[in-house]
Amino acid sequence: MDHAAARPYRSSRAAAPLSGHVAVPGDKSISHRALMFGALAIGETRITGLLTGEDVLRTAGAMRALGAEVTRDPDGIWRVAGRGIGGLTEPADVLDMGNSGTAARLLCGILATHPLFAVMTGDASLRSRPMRRVTEPLAATGARFATRAGGRLPLAIEGAADALPLDYRVPVPSAQVKSAVLLAGLNAPGITRVEEPEATRDHSENMLRHFGATVTVETAGHGRIITLVGQPELRAADVVVPGDPSSAAFPMVAALLVPGSRLTIPAVGLNPLRTGLFTTLLEMGADIVVQNHRLEGGEPVGDLVASHGALRAVDVPPERAPSMIDEYPILAVAAALANGTTRMRGLKELRVKESDRLAATAALLSVNGVKVEIEGDDLIVHGTGGAPAGGGTVVTHMDHRIAMAALVLGLVTQAPVTADDAGFIETSFPDFIGLMNGVGASLAAV
Ligand code: S3P
Repeated sequence: MDHAAARPYRSSRAAAPLSGHVAVPGDKSISHRALMFGALAIGETRITGLLTGEDVLRTAGAMRALGAEVTRDPDGIWRVAGRGIGGLTEPADVLDMGNSGTAARLLCGILATHPLFAVMTGDASLRSRPMRRVTEPLAATGARFATRAGGRLPLAIEGAADALPLDYRVPVPSAQVKSAVLLAGLNAPGITRVEEPEATRDHSENMLRHFGATVTVETAGHGRIITLVGQPELRAADVVVPGDPSSAAFPMVAALLVPGSRLTIPAVGLNPLRTGLFTTLLEMGADIVVQNHRLEGGEPVGDLVASHGALRAVDVPPERAPSMIDEYPILAVAAALANGTTRMRGLKELRVKESDRLAATAALLSVNGVKVEIEGDDLIVHGTGGAPAGGGTVVTHMDHRIAMAALVLGLVTQAPVTADDAGFIETSFPDFIGLMNGVGASLAAV
């Protein structure tokens, strides 16, 4: 999504407590996978609660361009008529994955073992992100990739006709790389094996099983070894997408920080590989209660109730990073209001997200009067224990989570905080501004 014009927004100190319900949209990771796996299955997959953010719409568009029929009913249920494994057809044009690293990298996995030619690009943010982490392992299937310098998009791919299965140890903790390798394995004979040094979100493994594939998972230290039996017959399966915990993080932290607030966020996904932020906030003394813990569509789900209260600083260990990788910008905002100094360790991967999130998060805080330091791969936030000065303009670098974190910060600073472009919030949480204003925030276009 390259914007014609930036959409600056300003967030002002909440005059009254935030209260009510915030229904967050469907999980982004699960939404991408539901569309992709539906396109590779035989039969019609029905998806309830799909995120209709820009990132996921890009995946829907790509699956259509590859021959699957993807439609949305008036009641919001999505239907995917799949082509079967190996059944995708050559796209007539360039596949534009917009801002979405997940869409681009998982699709590279699928295309690596389809004997067709495709070209993929994205917006300026995605075109700056590293793709070699997928193209290098995927080339061992027999697929051929040509990329721009530095392994960047646009890239061209010629999928393997007689693909080889991969046996790969993922060098960085990345669910995207793991998933790309597993997806390539769907159309390769024999066993695909992936070893990850630290466990990352396992939505691909869970959903592949749900569609009928044989997947085994063994724990190995902090990590896991995953095997997939190639060339299964994937059968269409209905998917219920839980609320995205990474989106819930923003109203939840807003409720913790704005005095007197209490917000309920229903039906949030609580997959244990996604809940590192909740663990950390509870360690900080946050008042978060999970109600109605249940299983929906094979994923644990609960209603979160978050209430305002004082927070204390914590030391966040590096091994927690994979389970809260997208939550550091909003955790840093919580840390800015806490008593004491918070250290978040081992954030190397943040440098290759939609923006360099380590630098962008530090800048977000420092321009608003919070003292921060980056030491190696650690982020250190000196909590003010009260309202930071604010008054700064945050450069969001085409990054939805930097924009939302900035707007939450502005609810509790002395002077308003401006996000230079709130447009990218559309990628993951299209109604963020409306929902936040509906529970008492004052976010306004500048
Ligand atoms: C995702 C994995 C994470 C995360 C991204 C979504 C996924 O990326 O940051 O927002 O759906 O697999 P990495 O796997 O590269 O860490």
